[in-house]
Amino acid sequence: MATKTPLVSIIMGSQSDWPVMKKAAEAMDVFGIPNEAKIISAHRKNARLQEYVTGAEAAGTRIFIAGAGMAAHLPGVVAALTTLPVIGVPLKASLEGIDAFLAIVQMPPGIPVATVAIDGAKNAGILAAEMLSISDKALQAKIKTWRKAQADNLAEIPKD
Ligand code: RP5
Repeated sequence: MATKTPLVSIIMGSQSDWPVMKKAAEAMDVFGIPNEAKIISAHRKNARLQEYVTGAEAAGTRIFIAGAGMAAHLPGVVAALTTLPVIGVPLKASLEGIDAFLAIVQMPPGIPVATVAIDGAKNAGILAAEMLSISDKALQAKIKTWRKAQADNLAEIPKD
């Protein structure tokens, strides 16, 4: 979704991250949350990252979702560039994603990154929606309805 001013910016280190990171965008699209996605590597395009985060914040972004694999410094660098909430998504690019998970979850005190599961981009999108719903009753109602449908759609008996 890219028509309105994005409230959530999704950043990833590489095109190879998109098949997982697009699940964050899809989760937010369900709730009608304007979002945009960018590929900006922290180590390959460091100056561009600084420019983008500063510009997005000025343009109205409220939350950043940052996903990276391997020595995954992207979410931490984004968090260093803004005081807005940053949700980090460790990606399974090597070592089953444990390397990225440890890099993202172990932020030194003072610069937090809210870390979701390895490849947990869908939950990152839902969490961003929940954060935005703190000050948006209509969005809160949409999320409650979605949660109820999720529960209602659970079968009690497994099928072959
Ligand atoms: C990280 O290195 C990216 O986030 C990606 O998960 C991983 C591999 O990147 P590519 O070599 O596919 O560009 O920076």
